[in-house]
Amino acid sequence: MENRNDALAAFRCSKCSKTEDTNTQDATCSCGGLWMLDYCPPRFSLDLVDKSAWNIFRYRAFMPLEGASWQEISLGEGMTPIVSLEKNLHLKMDYFMPTLSFKDRGAAVMMAHIKNIGVTSVVQDSSGNAGNSVAAYGAKAGIDSEIFVPEGTSSKKINMIQSHGARINIVPGSRDDCAKACRETVKKDGKYYASHVYNPFFYEGTKTYLYETYEQLGRIPSEIFIPLGNGTLFIGIMKALEEFLESGIIQEMPSIIAVQSENCAPIYEATKAREKKIASITPVPTLAEGIAVGVPMRGEEILEYIYRHHIEVITAPENRILEARASLATKGIYVEHTTAATYAAYLKYIATSRPLKDCLLPMCGAGLKSD
Ligand SMILES: Cc1ncc(COP(=O)(O)O)c(C=O)c1O
Ligand SMILES: [Zn+2]
Repeated sequence: MENRNDALAAFRCSKCSKTEDTNTQDATCSCGGLWMLDYCPPRFSLDLVDKSAWNIFRYRAFMPLEGASWQEISLGEGMTPIVSLEKNLHLKMDYFMPTLSFKDRGAAVMMAHIKNIGVTSVVQDSSGNAGNSVAAYGAKAGIDSEIFVPEGTSSKKINMIQSHGARINIVPGSRDDCAKACRETVKKDGKYYASHVYNPFFYEGTKTYLYETYEQLGRIPSEIFIPLGNGTLFIGIMKALEEFLESGIIQEMPSIIAVQSENCAPIYEATKAREKKIASITPVPTLAEGIAVGVPMRGEEILEYIYRHHIEVITAPENRILEARASLATKGIYVEHTTAATYAAYLKYIATSRPLKDCLLPMCGAGLKSD
C-alpha cells in the first residue's frame, strides 16, 4: 500500500493566503505567516487502516505523506493502550512511546516528511519532550539535529537529547525566550526549522491519538481532556474530530476540556474575555513545564477551534500537581509533572463542575523524565 496523497496537499499562508509546495524549506511564508495545510484526507474508515503496520503509519492513508521513508524512520510509536482507572475514567498511555512522550506521534511524521524533502540538518526548540523526539527520529533518519531548551529543563530530558547525538543549547529565561533564540539561529544561519509548532506535518502525526482511540474503543469518549501549551496535541485531536464529523463517524463533538497551567494561561485568559487573540500574560514558573507557553504561535488558530466547538478551557491547580502525581503513582502510573497537572485539573473539574460519564485523559509524559 503506497501513498501518493502528497500530490493533494499544499501549504497555505495563514496571513496572506499564498500557497506553496509542501516541499518548501521555509518555516513560514515570506510575510511571516505560519503555514496551514490544505489537505482533504479520504473519508475516515477503518478499512483504510493498514493493519500490518504496528505504528502510527497504519493511518498513513489519512496523511499527505510522500513516499515510503516512514518505514526507515518509525521507532514503533503509537498503538498505546487505554487503561480504565475507574469506571468512567480512561487513560491513554502515551508515555509508552519510544522517547516516553506523545510528541513521538508528531515527530515521526514530521521527520519522515523532512527526510523526503532531502533536509540533512535541523534546529528545534522545545520544553524538552519534543526535543527528545526530534533528536531520536533525527538519529534514526540520519538527520543532524540541534535542540534549544530553556534553563531549568529536566536534566533527564537534556541527557536523553544528547545521547541521541544532538547538540543542545540551554537558553537562559523562559520557554518563550528559548523559542526566540532558536528562531534567531534559523534566520541567521539559514537552518531548517523542525518546529513541532510551525510544521503542519507534526499535527498530521498527533491526529493519530484520536484515530487510535476510535480503533481501540470502537467509540469516541464523551469527554476528552487535553493539555494545552502550544497546542500540538490539541490541534491534532481537533483536526481528527473534524474529519470524523465530516466522515459521519461521529454525529456531534464530544466535550473537550483543554487544560492550561494556572501560572501561564494566555488562552484561558483570552477565552474569559472572548478575545480572538491570545492574552498578554507574564508567565510565573510552574511545575507543568510542558505547557508553560506564554506566547503560543498558533494561539489564534487554537481560539478558533475553541469558539467553533464550544470548548471549555480550565487551569490546573499548581498546588495540587505533586499530590495528583503521587496519587497516580499509588495506582501504578508514574507520570511527569505536566501530565499530573492534567489529572489535577480533572480532579478539580469533577469536584467543582459536573460528574463525567466517559472521560479520556492523555498520559503524555513519563515520570522518569521529571527531576
Ligand atoms: C508532557 C507534556 N504534556 C503536554 C504538553 C503540551 O503540548 P503542547 O505544547 O503541544 O500543547 C507537552 C509539551 O511539551 C508535554 O511535554
Ligand atoms: Zn503570507
